[in-house]
This record gives sequence, C-alpha cells and structure tokens, in this order.
Amino acid sequence: MTDKLIIFDTTLRDGEQSPGASMTKEEKVRIAKALERMRVDVIEAGFPIASIGDFEAVQAVAAAVKDSRICGLARALDADIDRAGEALKPANASRIHTFIATSPIHMKMKLRMEPEQVIENAVKAVKRARQYTDDVEFSPEDAGRSDPQFLCRVLEAVIDAGASTLNIPDTVGYNLPHQFGDLIKMLRNTIPNADKAIFSVHCHNDLGLAVANSLSAVINGARQVECTINGLGERAGNAALEEVVMAVRTRQDVFPCDTNIDTTQIVTASRLVSGITGFAVQPNKAIVGVNAFAHESGIHQDGVLKSRETYEIMRAEDVGWHTNRMVLGKHSGRNAFRTRLQELGIELESEAELNAAFTRFKELADKKHEVFDEDLQALISDTIDVENERIRLVSLKVCSETGETPVASVTLAFDDDEVHIEMSGSGPVDAVYKAIESMVQSHTELQLYSVNNITSGTDAQGEVNVRLEKGGRIVSGQGADTDIVIASAKAYINALNKMLLPAERAHPQV
Ligand code: KIV
Ligand code: ZN
Repeated sequence: MTDKLIIFDTTLRDGEQSPGASMTKEEKVRIAKALERMRVDVIEAGFPIASIGDFEAVQAVAAAVKDSRICGLARALDADIDRAGEALKPANASRIHTFIATSPIHMKMKLRMEPEQVIENAVKAVKRARQYTDDVEFSPEDAGRSDPQFLCRVLEAVIDAGASTLNIPDTVGYNLPHQFGDLIKMLRNTIPNADKAIFSVHCHNDLGLAVANSLSAVINGARQVECTINGLGERAGNAALEEVVMAVRTRQDVFPCDTNIDTTQIVTASRLVSGITGFAVQPNKAIVGVNAFAHESGIHQDGVLKSRETYEIMRAEDVGWHTNRMVLGKHSGRNAFRTRLQELGIELESEAELNAAFTRFKELADKKHEVFDEDLQALISDTIDVENERIRLVSLKVCSETGETPVASVTLAFDDDEVHIEMSGSGPVDAVYKAIESMVQSHTELQLYSVNNITSGTDAQGEVNVRLEKGGRIVSGQGADTDIVIASAKAYINALNKMLLPAERAHPQV
C-alpha cells in the first residue's frame, strides 16, 4: 500500500518573503486557484497578523478555494492566533500553523527566553489554535540547529496539546540530506506519542539542498512536504514543489508514498508565479525551465527519436509542456477567447473584466498574427489588477534615430489628472523612464531591468521585468507588449503602482 504524501504549498507565505515578490490580494487568489486546480492539499495563504492586506488576502483565498485546505501562519502569540482564526473563517477546511524557535541561538538572541518558557508558549499556542480549528500544525523554528533531545520534549508536549502536524524546518538551510533524514527517523522513533501526528518538513535552499533534504526526510517517514512553486522563498528559497512531486512520482521504486498532484498543471502554475512575481525561471531549471526537456546534442536527439526513454526519465506532457498549446487569431470570437481562458484555468471575476481582456486580445491579435497561450497569460496579468492602478499610461511616443539622442513624449494619468512631459535619454527606454520618473518623483532605484520574448518570432510580445527599491523596500513590475518600449513603460508603471500600496507589514520571523 502506498502512503499519501501531503503537499503543503507556501508560495503565498514563505514565497512572498522573497524581497520583491510581494503580491496583491487578487494575484494571491489567482495563484491559489491554480494550486487548487493542481490538487495541492494545503495552501498556506499568508500571515494574517502581518498587515490588513495580508489578513484580507488570507480571507479572500479562504473564500475562493474550496478543494484545498487553507492555512494561516501565526507566531506563538495570542494576537497572532486570533487573527489567523478570524481570517480563516470563510474556509471550507482550515489549518492554523503556529511556530516558535527552539535552537539555542534563536532562543537566547531572538526570543530571549529560557527553554522551559519556549515549551510553555508552544503548548499554550497550540491549545489556543485548537479553539479555532481541529487542524493545528506546530513548527519548532530552526529545528535543523536545535538540540535533538529538546526537540523531542517540545514535540511531545505539543502533540499532547492537540497538534496533529509536526513540521520540522531547516530554517537556515544548514542540514545535509543524510543528517536531516536521520533527524526525522530519530524524532519518529523517540517521541512516545509520535504516532498521533504527521511529520512534515520545511527546507530552505541556502546550500542548494532543500529538495534533497526534503526527499531524505520522506524516505525516513515524513508524510508532508512544505514547498513552493519554482522554489520561491526567503533568501535562496524553499524546496521546489515541482521537483519534489516529480522526484517522488518518477522514483516510485524508492518512495513508499505518492502525492495527489495533477502534474499536468505544473508548467502553467510555474508561469503564473513567475509572471506575477517577476522572478524569471532559469532555462536549465529542472521540470519548469524551457530547456528542461530540450535536447541539443545530435546523439541525444537521435536517441530520443529512436526511443524516448534513452534520454528522458519523464514526459514533457506529464508536467504540462506543449499540451493543447492553442492558437487564437484576430478572427477568434469572444466565445473562443472565453473558452480558452477557462481551459487555461483563468477565471475572470466579472463581465467587465472579460470585456477589458477581450478588447486587449483584439488589439494584440491585430498586431500579432497568432496569439498563443503564453500571450493570453501575459495579457490577463496586464488586465486584472486595475483596482490598484493609480498611475496609468495614456500615451507614449519615442523618436529614435541613428546619430540622434532619443526623445520620449509620455502622458500619464494620476488618478484622474493627466500629465505630459518630453525627455531625452541615452536610449529609448532610458528616455521613457526619465520622463516617467520626472512626473512621478518616486525617488526609487531601478535594481533590475530585463526583457524576454514570450513566444518566438520577431512579432512576439516582449515581457519586461523591473525591480525597484526605496528605503529597503523592493517591488517588482511586469509589462508585455509587441513593442518592447511600451512593455518597458508598462512594467515600470506597474512597479510604481505597487510602491504606492501600503508597506507596513510584520515579518513572521523577525
Ligand atoms: O523557515 C521557517 O522556519 C519557517 C517557519 C515559519 C516554518 O518559515
Ligand atoms: Zn521558511
């Protein structure tokens, strides 16, 4: 009998802790729906006490998702737990995930608590969380550097207090696979009431070992893995969901368990998360990189043509590459457009949103002969978040000529007022950015500017990612257009609009 391996996705919580990866409520709901379609078991939707925005995002995800369990993070503090309990009220199935640090360095330097106080707080937090839901997860933060005997005491106490999932985090990505696997085995064998809880792991990727450590834990009895799409997360990130899921699925000869994940949704979810956060996926990234299934060398190509298994251990279609890549064009009607969006798992909230998206689609189809699924995904990202759009691009003209200095003429709307300016620059994009900055006066620093083609061909849309920094706060913006100067302006304005959103939010681990 194969056990079930629970997939707990924390893209919306730990993933969002990557500097520049912050997401709006609407974006979080879109990602959560994609995770639900993928049949993720538990979605950690956020840290409700962090800010009003975080609270509302968890509430919105809890209301929108029906098939996955929705989880909210809370420190071992009454106020955090109450806030999480409140935000999760609309959920069909909810979980509160509470945590407190257990490593000597965290207890002494961060919490300034004695070990006995940490146990007391952990037990109290779990009992309080149980007043809101019977599904409570407890994490001893920095477990990977905690004293194993102390961990046993804490975990035994929280199981007695009502925790049904014990999550063992390698918070700083310090462990090695054999060591981390041994830790899980020891905890399961030593804690007297260990059989009353599911062991989970949450590994960070500081040494590039997050997936390896998670898999070693699974071999040693963990039955939940916490992970994120594309491995997004604090610092070097978390274990990548797609890698964990495909390793377990591909090596059923080794793993005594399997997930319930619909793997054909993986590539779509990866694109969605990368498009929303602006964190590009490296071409050679396992499973979801564009080269993951490409064969360059002649010997490999020859082998694959004769028999796929010579060089491929997975099928590209099984993770969602190339499946139903359909083309729409300027003669495609509203119905075809709506149907394709539904097939891609894109749900628009209202007829008004559908109309706006359809208008943009027609504009794009006029410029571009064939509109691919990737174009539709970019177009929807451009259409949706109008609620948070205080600055809008009204018009843009750029003169660029050999031997002459480029000049940009830009009109922006700030709420209802229009402003116009002309500026020169060292190139067309530089001129546009100078013009926009002189009107907005954001005083932000441009940390990253990158252009990628969404599909192939010279009529492809260019997708621009920018990252802005101001006073330690980092936001990213995206824009797509067949004209890369316009895409650049859209990306910059998108990031500026995010910079205007309220910033105050607490970080759970600080
Ligand atoms: O890395 C970590 O320890 C965490 C906990 C909150 C589980 O993210
Ligand atoms: Zn973490």
